[in-house]
Amino acid sequence: MTQPAPVSAVGQFPTTRMRRLRQSDWSRRLVAENHLTVDDLIWPIFLVDGDNRRVPIASMPGVERYSVDVAVEMARHAAEVGIPVLALFPATDPAKKSADGEEAINANNLVCQAVRAVKAAVPQIGILCDVALDPYTTHGQDGLVRNGYVVNDETVEMLCKQAVVQAQAGCDIIAPSDMMDGRVGRIRVALDAAGFESVQILSYAAKYASAFYGPFRDAVGSANSLGTGDKRTYQMNPANTNEALREVQLDLAEGADLVMVKPGMPYLDIVRRVKDTFAVPTVVYQVSGEYAMLLAAAQQGWLDRDKVIFESLLAFKRAGADAILTYFALEVARKLRSAGK
Ligand code: PBG
Repeated sequence: MTQPAPVSAVGQFPTTRMRRLRQSDWSRRLVAENHLTVDDLIWPIFLVDGDNRRVPIASMPGVERYSVDVAVEMARHAAEVGIPVLALFPATDPAKKSADGEEAINANNLVCQAVRAVKAAVPQIGILCDVALDPYTTHGQDGLVRNGYVVNDETVEMLCKQAVVQAQAGCDIIAPSDMMDGRVGRIRVALDAAGFESVQILSYAAKYASAFYGPFRDAVGSANSLGTGDKRTYQMNPANTNEALREVQLDLAEGADLVMVKPGMPYLDIVRRVKDTFAVPTVVYQVSGEYAMLLAAAQQGWLDRDKVIFESLLAFKRAGADAILTYFALEVARKLRSAGK
């Protein structure tokens, strides 16, 4: 960078006018370096048993759990505006939860029913399912607990079965969110062996032990089960960044097609490092706590709702994300569409 010339030396100050390009809307549009489009969006929705049900989630105003029939309607709306992928998360009936979360491998569980129904009615939309046991376990942990510890290898066996059951239902993207070691490779082998070599794996590779997941745990009903427990023996320490690169490297070596960084807004540095280091499809998750935070401030009238939503999503693009899981996806897709984008 050259030093700016002193005023007296040139007599014309400043010599470079950065504001020239910012003067009008056409010019700002012309030089914009990043854009948010509908193609960037993955819409997470929550499922609940029953028919014609929409159950609000207190800590996520505006987000509801849908019964399968309503979820199919919502999938139609999402496809209409061109959202590429829907992510499905079940709020499991507490009566179906168990210590080892066997409901996760029930081929007729809520998420599998929803996958089949959406696939049949809206075949053009991609479907993503989480692989982890927390919606199904009475303790709310993502894996099997033995002597107070979430055991790795035995959990991975179970996750492989969960992945295959979801693929059989028609899931297009298997997304392990459990943070067990070695699970991507084992799931890849299990999927291939079952004839699902075309099913993609999106690994939650850099997933942090974050307090921003609170409202999600309300939504899927794992918060009460987890109680004062936490997931710090498997999810990453928010203090670390080199470790995220190791996680991503391992998951790619094991066969991940796409990788995820999660949460989003407080972890933009990780998104950028992952993208720069590996140049692979990089997904970011704007998690439930980020949604709650933005909406709470907007509801108070402290932030401009639309503007902060769009700015937060554009920031993900700027950081290098190729796709964004966000609870705002349907609303944002509709607004982008009506703006002709
Ligand atoms: C399950 C899972 C979680 C989220 C996505 N998958 C919660 C957790 O790990 O405790 C969080 C998503 C969000 O907060 O929006 N393993």
